[in-house]
Parts: sequence; C-alpha cells; structure tokens
Amino acid sequence: MADTLTITDNRTGKQYELPIEHGAIKALDLRKIKADQDDFGLMTYDPAYQNTAACKSRITYIDGDKGILLYRGYPIEQMAEKSTFLETAYLILFGELPNAKQLDAWVHEITMHTMLHENIKKLMEGFQYDAHPMGIFLSTVGALSTNYPDAKRIFEEDSRRLQIRRLIAKVPSIAAYAYRHSIGRPYVYPDNDLSFTGNFLNMLFKMTELKYQVNPVLERALDILFILHADHEQNCSTSAMRGIGSAQSDPYSSLAGAAAALYGPLHGGANEAVLRMLKEIGHVKNIPQFIEGVKKGDGRLMGFGHRVYKSYDPRARIIKQTADEVFAVTGRNPLTDIALELERIALEDDYFISRKLYPNVDFYSGLIYQAMGFPVDMFPVLFAIPRTAGWLAQWDEMLRDPDQKIARPRQVYIGAERRDYVAKEQRT
Ligand SMILES: CC(C)(COP(=O)(O)OP(=O)(O)OC[C@H]1O[C@@H](n2cnc3c(N)ncnc32)[C@H](O)[C@@H]1OP(=O)(O)O)[C@@H](O)C(=O)NCCC(=O)NCCS
Repeated sequence: MADTLTITDNRTGKQYELPIEHGAIKALDLRKIKADQDDFGLMTYDPAYQNTAACKSRITYIDGDKGILLYRGYPIEQMAEKSTFLETAYLILFGELPNAKQLDAWVHEITMHTMLHENIKKLMEGFQYDAHPMGIFLSTVGALSTNYPDAKRIFEEDSRRLQIRRLIAKVPSIAAYAYRHSIGRPYVYPDNDLSFTGNFLNMLFKMTELKYQVNPVLERALDILFILHADHEQNCSTSAMRGIGSAQSDPYSSLAGAAAALYGPLHGGANEAVLRMLKEIGHVKNIPQFIEGVKKGDGRLMGFGHRVYKSYDPRARIIKQTADEVFAVTGRNPLTDIALELERIALEDDYFISRKLYPNVDFYSGLIYQAMGFPVDMFPVLFAIPRTAGWLAQWDEMLRDPDQKIARPRQVYIGAERRDYVAKEQRT
C-alpha cells in the first residue's frame, strides 16, 4: 500500500488522504482542504523555507544529523582527498566523474575561456579605488550578460554549456582583477600553462617576475577548499540562483543575484565575521567571558551552527587538516590558538551542545585564507568561485525539470482590511 497521510479538518469534519512521496506531501494537495466553498484552500506557513522542499535534485545530498555530504553520491572526504576542483565541477554539473579523455577536454575548454573582454576590464577600472571586491565581483558577473547576449538562449543545451564553461573559467579572472583593483595593482592576465588554482594565484599575486612560481602546497590547499565549497544543495544563494533563473533570466544575471546572497554575513560573509570575532577576543584568556556574552544573547559565535548540520560539519574537519599543511608553509596564523580553544570550550558547553551548534565550514577557512595572504574582503569572493559550479548545476537542473515554474511563494496576509482613501487634509 502506498504511504498516505490522513488529515481530519475539525472545521468541517471531513477527512482527506494525501499521498506521501519521497517523505513529502505535495503542498498543492492541501489546497483542496477548504472550510467552505469560498475558501482559497489550506496553505503551509513556512518563513525561511525551514521545512519546504522546493525541488527534486540529484546533485548534492546532506545528512545534517550524521554530518554526511555527498556530491552525486561521492563522499566529500573522498573528493577532497582524491579529486581536483575542475573534476569535481564536472561531476557536479554532468552527474558522473569524467573519464581521462573527458577530463582533459574539460580542463582544456575551461583554460581556453579564462580571458576577460577588455571592455569588462575597463568597466572594473571604473570602480572606486577601495570598492569591496565582492561588490565588484557580483556587478561584473552581471555585466557579462551584456557581452554574451547568446546567453538568453537558455533552453538550448549548447548555449547553456558554453555559458557554463565561460562562467567557470572567468570567475577566477574577475575575482583576481577585483582584488588587484582594490589594492591598486595592475591586472595580471591568465597563464594557461598553470592549473586552475595555480593560475588564480598567479593572477592575484604575480609582481614583476616573468613567470609566477606557484607553491604546490598552497595550490593544492586552495583546490581542496574549492572542492569543499563547490555545492551545498538548496542554501540561500542557490535558492536565489534557482529563483531568479526560474524567471528565465540569463545565467550571468542569475549568478549575480546568487553572489549577492552569498555576500551576506549569515552566508558567505561568515568567515570574515569569524576573523573579526577572533581579533576582538584578542587572547585565549578572554574566551570564557566572550562565551558568556554569546549565551546571554550579545551576538553569536560566528562560524558555529548551521541550518542543516546538527553535528560536526564534515567540511570543517577537512579544512582543519588543510590548515596545518598551509601553516607549515606560511607560518601559523596567530588567531588559530584562539579558534582552537574557542571550539574546545564551546563543544563542552551545554548551551552549544543542547542546540547542536558545531563548527561549520567558515570557522577555519578564514584562518587559512588569511595565512595565504588574502585580505578578509576577499573571503566571500573565494567562496563564490567554486560555488559557481554548484549554482550552474542547480540552474541547469531546474531548467530541465518539468515540475518547475516561475518561483512565486504565497503569503499569509495580516494587513489592513479594505478601506477608502482619505485626503491628506482629513488625516489625523
Ligand atoms: C547558520 C545560522 C544562520 C543558522 O541559523 P538557524 O538555523 O536559523 O538557527 P537559529 O537562529 O534558529 O538558532 C537556533 C538556536 O541556536 C542559537 N544559535 C544559533 N547559532 C548560534 C551561534 N552561532 N552562536 C550562538 N547561538 C546560536 C540561536 O540563538 C537559537 O537559540 P534559542 O533557541 O535559544 O533562540 C546560525 O547558526 C548562525 O547565525 N551562525 C553564525 C553565522 C555563521 O557561521 N554562518 C555560516 C553558515 S555556513
């Protein structure tokens, strides 16, 4: 027998049987539950979509209680250990790991699209000298839609694939240009001899040398961080990407909106907030007082807690290991001791235990980025580069899904009833 849910409506005494599929009922099935004939029908009230599945997806699986994260079925731990970012992006986008030939072709295609049009470079030069690189990043990604009007052909697979290649290849170039602009250095053109992350480091940090020498430890560490950030199912920015894309906007405009969501301190800006918090704490001896403040409601312990993970975020564990390898090259970030002690104390404190608050991906990533020489303003940009693969995979899946339409939530109206306009002289 198929799974069903039986609902009795006390208002009418009627019973309804709703099918349960994949652990969910269809919200639209509730519409037939009406108090009387004029009733619109029952809705669910779910601010912040805490218990609403807005799509079916085959891309990323998370079990928040067990701390499991799978990309297309492959555990994040195996991907971080054995894969590269570009291979992971291929997997996320196309559903399967590429064979050797497919991987070579994919890496070649991405490498061939890294250059930005000179007009885009000029556009970026127009930003204020101290503009936040994430502001530059999201505006420039949006502006790319003006360079590629063919991107409007979203229902043509060839066009979608071309825009996907362009975006994955160009976001590091935009990110690096945004950074160089914000510190007043000349732009560095891509070096196609280098790997995806090696070239990114080149575009960020090359000075007058003829050829940038990539440090292989930092190159690999950045690649691992990119793998960890490539997708995370229906988070705020991905929902923005799907939401904007559902109006059939082009991928550049949709991605600019997703990046804007990622800019927020509760999402991609959290690692920046972690560093600010660690600096504010200043010393290990100040931690108990800080924790007491958090428990009283004076701010949050940044980098802790997650809407989905109610145990240790598996990405945080991998990042902690990567941190040691990076610090062996760069020297230890002095804030690390404060972070480690903060984590130790919080994980023993009933406030955090009872609310299932554990370190998330952002708790340690900022420490690594800072040790590698990135200013904190660059942190959300470093998140946006790999997440571009996830956003595009989710956008592509959404467009091919016959269940999807333009996203348009309902509301529960609690405002004034109908009333007549009052002339301003008669208002009290
Ligand atoms: C990520 C986050 C937004 C998820 O929020 P959420 O699922 O809406 O959880 P809630 O805000 O409902 O929090 C549940 C409870 O835990 C507390 N809580 C959640 N995160 C907390 C934190 N980082 N520090 C202190 N308390 C926290 C809330 O105050 C609330 O307590 P209450 O039940 O006594 O009111 C939230 O944990 C947070 O703000 N974390 C810090 C920012 C961060 O690291 N973001 C990066 C996410 S990858």
